[in-house]
Amino acid sequence: MDRRKFLASVGGAGALAAMSATEKVDALEQAMNQELDTRVVKPGICTTYGKEPRTPGNPDAKYFHMGHDPRLPLMSGKPTLVEFFEKRLAPANHLLQSGALALRSGLPETTVLACLLHDIGGGALLRTDHGYWGAQLVEPYVDEEVSWSIRHHQALRYFADEDMGYPYPEAYIRYFGEDFSPEPYIHEAAAYAKTHKWYKTARQICINDVYAFDPNVEVSLDMFYGIIERNFKQPEQGLGYDGSPSAHMWRSIIFPSNFL
Ligand SMILES: [Fe+2]
Ligand SMILES: [Fe+2]
Repeated sequence: MDRRKFLASVGGAGALAAMSATEKVDALEQAMNQELDTRVVKPGICTTYGKEPRTPGNPDAKYFHMGHDPRLPLMSGKPTLVEFFEKRLAPANHLLQSGALALRSGLPETTVLACLLHDIGGGALLRTDHGYWGAQLVEPYVDEEVSWSIRHHQALRYFADEDMGYPYPEAYIRYFGEDFSPEPYIHEAAAYAKTHKWYKTARQICINDVYAFDPNVEVSLDMFYGIIERNFKQPEQGLGYDGSPSAHMWRSIIFPSNFL
């Protein structure tokens, strides 16, 4: 947005300088929302009831946002997984690099797909429990082994398996501290996953995950088209409109700013 307009909206450069970083971000978001002429709200899970001001009878009141969010690329009426990658997940480098590593290691196509999709829940919906969200999102469209593995990488990534070439991620010490230990439900899920017949697939997600953060590597989605075609059951009506148990989750990604 125009810098001068933004400064005017916060009361000038002096007022801006006195703000904390968080206040600056909030002020910018507020100014951008005003520019859109509609009030954009956060997804319901982040919304506190009663927070929005009521303006009955106010001729200047704005409508709550519904429908396509003009800040995002417009999605078609029959979206495919590839379209979600292009319009909602892009650049998705982390997912693409994970998938490419798995492909280069000669892993089965279902494992490559699991690596390609492993963080789709965190990228498109929520970081919290992203493995569970991601698994549920793709469950109706992939082999059970794929969604099971995505779900359980959530827990397994906190626990080393040196024999399979997975040490405890050094990055987690930086992210969460030396003494960090996940919640008991994560310990339980990891212990269960370790005894499961698909353990190695879920572990492969962790192995191809940790090293998939190279900012100098660019992977194109094209190389996965065949694997997606053969292993992801794209619904004819489009993701979000097929009535599957996770259709509403895809719709939430299409319309992330709807008030209701
Ligand atoms: Fe993850
Ligand atoms: Fe990841």
